[in-house]
Amino acid sequence: MAGRAFDVVVWGATGFTGRLVAEHLARDYKTGVKWALAGRNQERLEKVRLDLSEQYGSELQEVPILLGDIKDQSSLDSIAAQTHVVLSTAGPFALHGTPVVDAAVRSGAHYVDITGETPWVKTIIDGYHEEAARKGLRIVPCCGFDSTPFDLGALLVVEHMKRLGKEPAKIMNVVMGSKGGVSGGTIASGMNAFAEMKSNPALASESSNVYSLVPPAARGGDGEFWGVQWSKELGQYLAPFVMQACNNRVVHRSAYLLNYTSSHEFRYQEAIAAKSWLAAKSVQLGTLAVVAAMSQTWLHPLLKKVLPAQGEGPTRDMMVGGNFKNRVLGWTKEEGGTAPTLVQAEVGDPHRDGGYWGTSRMLLEAALCLAQQQKELDASKELQKGGVLTPASAMGMLLVERLRKAGQTYKILE
Ligand SMILES: NC(=O)c1ccc[n+]([C@@H]2O[C@H](COP(=O)([O-])OP(=O)(O)OC[C@H]3O[C@@H](n4cnc5c(N)ncnc54)[C@H](OP(=O)(O)O)[C@@H]3O)[C@@H](O)[C@H]2O)c1
Repeated sequence: MAGRAFDVVVWGATGFTGRLVAEHLARDYKTGVKWALAGRNQERLEKVRLDLSEQYGSELQEVPILLGDIKDQSSLDSIAAQTHVVLSTAGPFALHGTPVVDAAVRSGAHYVDITGETPWVKTIIDGYHEEAARKGLRIVPCCGFDSTPFDLGALLVVEHMKRLGKEPAKIMNVVMGSKGGVSGGTIASGMNAFAEMKSNPALASESSNVYSLVPPAARGGDGEFWGVQWSKELGQYLAPFVMQACNNRVVHRSAYLLNYTSSHEFRYQEAIAAKSWLAAKSVQLGTLAVVAAMSQTWLHPLLKKVLPAQGEGPTRDMMVGGNFKNRVLGWTKEEGGTAPTLVQAEVGDPHRDGGYWGTSRMLLEAALCLAQQQKELDASKELQKGGVLTPASAMGMLLVERLRKAGQTYKILE
């Protein structure tokens, strides 16, 4: 990829999350990174650039703007051919994502995004995994809050077990606390995913399988957690976590690509901690109600009227006054009745939300890891060198290290 003009191009830079990615670049990477803003609308891109230059310095007026149109493949090819990494925040990805991945793979660029739409990720694996693997291109969807902290949290625990000479039997990723908001783009993507599954029962059935992102021959007998149960390890009740629908599938793909176990019997679940049985029951029923409402497509126009519109999202105070904290519980696999060892980790950020500030940072650090740390990535014996990958299988502990430097917590609790 020598001779490319940019390390990273931010595709979707006019959106709520794309603007945050550009802001991190403008504020924290004033030197050392060659980047460009990209999207479909020159005027809106110029406005983003002007806002950045007013806040972070007039030199930002020099940041190039690249125009593309998802209906004009050659325009996307031309953008992808100029950069080491295409970073995309232009969702819903099931609607707008495939031509961008196509451009990256054909033009020889790595790619990262923040989709949580795993049915779409499956189509990308089916369509591009082999070619990307052959070309040594890392195509990495799900680099936001869905699923980076969950995927890397599981990896952290598995790596610790390896140092103990053990492998995991089960990992439970528990959301202990989370404060933030939601954007119109996320709501639109969720609604689109439900609408697509309603119109395509085969897709819905395949997507309901936690192994939907791994080949059939590598599937075990795991499932999702939809109950309420007491956790003696945490001294709290557990209720279902709605984003398991994405994270669970991503972690299973990492387990497959990184060989977490010698068999396919690795179990993975996610939950939210609650202080009482009643609180856990309310979360469970509330989550089921949200899923039921989102699956009623006739309700979508009504919901759109009361929920944030595309381009809108949480206030700055909600993001920089937000937080997230996950506890990862991992039990080792033991033979002959020996009690498993419990390994625990904490993942989070005490000062920023996970959904937008955190997501935009996770995505940017993933892109820069691919752009700037290629030699270290290539030198790793475990990491995948190409294909449609996960944060853990593409960047592993190198990304953990970058996120720690960016202020996020990734630590084993001894
Ligand atoms: N994984 C996570 O944890 C996580 C967190 C946050 C968001 N997300 C996902 O990220 C995506 C973006 O969310 P958001 O709130 O930032 O959305 P948003 O504000 O609506 O931004 C969407 C972006 O996509 C662009 N876009 C839309 N249609 C396009 C088209 N046909 N051609 C080219 N560009 C197009 C928009 O450009 P214009 O300005 O020109 O319309 C805009 O830049 C959503 O899919 C959301 O679900 C995931």
